[in-house]
Amino acid sequence: MAEGLPGGLPMEVPVPDLPPRVRIHEVGPRDGLQNEKGVIPTGVKAEFIRRLADAGLTTIEATSFVHPKWVPQLADAEQLFPMVSPIEGVTFPVLVPNERGLDRAIALGARRIAVFGSATESFASRNLNRTIDESLAMFEPVVARAKDDKIHVRGYLSMCFGDPWEGKVPIHQVVRVAKRLMDLGCDELSLGDTIGVATPGHVLTLLAELNEEGVPTSALGVHFHDTYGQALANTFAALEHGVTTVDSSAGGLGGCPYAKSATGNLATEDLVWMLHGLGIDTGVDLGRLTATSVWMAEQLGRPSPSRTVRALAGADSSHKEP
Ligand code: HMG
Ligand code: MG
Repeated sequence: MAEGLPGGLPMEVPVPDLPPRVRIHEVGPRDGLQNEKGVIPTGVKAEFIRRLADAGLTTIEATSFVHPKWVPQLADAEQLFPMVSPIEGVTFPVLVPNERGLDRAIALGARRIAVFGSATESFASRNLNRTIDESLAMFEPVVARAKDDKIHVRGYLSMCFGDPWEGKVPIHQVVRVAKRLMDLGCDELSLGDTIGVATPGHVLTLLAELNEEGVPTSALGVHFHDTYGQALANTFAALEHGVTTVDSSAGGLGGCPYAKSATGNLATEDLVWMLHGLGIDTGVDLGRLTATSVWMAEQLGRPSPSRTVRALAGADSSHKEP
């Protein structure tokens, strides 16, 4: 399968002071599939998730308990979740916008949830039908009840680096909403570059400002979309700052149905190639992961956008268009 280097792995050349290990928060089954035009059979989603777990991913965002009319692609959450959970050593976070979503998630035994806020009013209104204040008020009882049940809560913050309707997003505005999400009791905060416009200096500045306002790096994750090809450079900047939680999507699947110009997430394979080259442990078997994305590309009927998948899979990645 491998092209370029024997064994399909990069040469390991560490850079001093980077974290020894990174936890990859795999979002392919959720962020990746929520935007698909066609309906993907639940069995295919379950198989995708099982293969991701087999490849060594330990945090796999499985689905969303949102309104099925808002995201019809994930309307099968009730059927899917019990098909994959539990798997020993793997956690399956799910998106939950409100108490109704929390009830559904708890009924199936979910132990990790994510609320998802926005740094901008435009996206809050389009994604959640709420103002920023209203959405935080909607999350408040969700986080409180989850914490009472010892459920781990991630807070997503979207549009941290730019917004398709509002343009540039002031850093102090991002920090303000980030702090409010942390104050609700979130265990971690994932900084979303929903439309993929961030650059490394912007990332470093936001991280430093958040630290200054009392949000520790250990609570922060980064969530880059790769629209402008900056996702890996931005990730490297975040690693240099000490971030150890990085979101990515197998095969580079993804987008957001409520954000025009959101393309795929940072591909997990591209991330793993860089991390392993830096000598950073991820626990992921790159060959198995690539095989999973090639298989998923076959299910979707189009090639994976991941450069690493294409390089490693060689001719296998030239799948037929539908
Ligand atoms: P709404 O229309 O304002 O809902 O939507 P509502 O509270 O007025 O309720 C209306 C009806 O929906 C009620 O039913 C509720 O029971 C029902 P009725 O009484 O009329 O029969 N309902 C629900 N049903 C099932 N599950 C639920 C639920 N909630 C209400 N959870 C709402 C508000 C938040 C529900 C809606 O806007 C929504 O579901 N939005 C989700 C949008 C979404 O999933 N977007 C993609 C994820 S965000 C993202 O991708 C960004 C990220 O990747 C990071 C980054 O890249 O930046 C995370
Ligand atoms: Mg996203």
